[in-house]
Amino acid sequence: MESNFKKFIAVILLPVFLLFIPGCDFDDKPAVKIGVAMPTKTRQRWNQDGANIEKYLHDQGFAADLQFADNKPELQISQIAAMINEGCKVIIVGAVDVQSLAGILEEAKAVGISIISYDRLIMNTDAVDYYATFDNVAVGIVQGEYIEEKLGLKEGKGPYNFEITAGSEDDSNAFYFFEGAMEILRPYIKSGQLVINSGQSTFKQCAIPHWKEDISRARMTEILQKNYSDKHLDVVLCANDSTAFGVIKALRDAGYNLTDKKMPLVTGQDADKKNLKMIIAGEQTMSIFKDTRILAMQTVKMVKSIVEGKMPETNDMGNYNNGVKILPSFLVRPLFVDKDNYREVLFDSGYYNESVLDE
Ligand code: BGC
Repeated sequence: MESNFKKFIAVILLPVFLLFIPGCDFDDKPAVKIGVAMPTKTRQRWNQDGANIEKYLHDQGFAADLQFADNKPELQISQIAAMINEGCKVIIVGAVDVQSLAGILEEAKAVGISIISYDRLIMNTDAVDYYATFDNVAVGIVQGEYIEEKLGLKEGKGPYNFEITAGSEDDSNAFYFFEGAMEILRPYIKSGQLVINSGQSTFKQCAIPHWKEDISRARMTEILQKNYSDKHLDVVLCANDSTAFGVIKALRDAGYNLTDKKMPLVTGQDADKKNLKMIIAGEQTMSIFKDTRILAMQTVKMVKSIVEGKMPETNDMGNYNNGVKILPSFLVRPLFVDKDNYREVLFDSGYYNESVLDE
């Protein structure tokens, strides 16, 4: 009798009772899983990208598998393979090597997984569905226009001694950054207002493998030793903050400072915390601020639309061709940051807390 009563409670009453507990839903399906494959933890920005995407995915009720590939293409491929096996519905990929992913992404496509190319354009495969990025050409244009304005190039000023440091050849963005900046600066090289004493002016000659600070430093040290023992270097176009840091270290080694042997105008990108300090100190002149919160938010909106079977929002349909197809893209506008506007751009927007200056 007693055991029948226990059965009655367990089988009939308990489930009925549980139905009325808030949040207890017998129809609850496991959360849809989304893969997030980021390239590396070594640069500040990718940690922020990864953390923001993960947070916004959770806010929307998704489960996330966030992986960083230590800048190793093979590791990234195996991480994506695991995401396919886990049943991820969408995979967001910030590629290590944009040329190496076609094979694994075809496998994802074959089982119906959608792929968003994140920040870096994945090349030569039709297995990519969308591209979410900062406007890479605009990054270069903003850097070029900054140099143009600060040096008074439009007004015919010069000649200035000029060198270029570009990004990594395995990253499609690096080429877009270079082309954007050179679109503005090439006419001044032609007119003789910008003089490249090293003679290194092509993307290939200026590229820094894996965006490495120490490679950038070694290259600039050699350029300074060979070409600038009796000349002053006036301006360096640096593709991003890690290459800029390398250049600044080489300049310091060569005796450039804030007083008698004045640091050149040095550009950058990402507004990394340590570069921000150099901007305030006057060693680096500017950086490009890419608000990774906006890009992450936009990407998660794309994910949500894909999972709901809707068309994701895009704002560019013609500019990013990955060799096989033109990708429907969402481009976020980059801004410049320098010592005159960093408070407004970085602190007032809540991107950084002012305490980063004490870190
Ligand atoms: C990103 C830059 C970053 C660089 C190195 C590029 O693909 O767009 O923001 O500085 O990679 O990580």
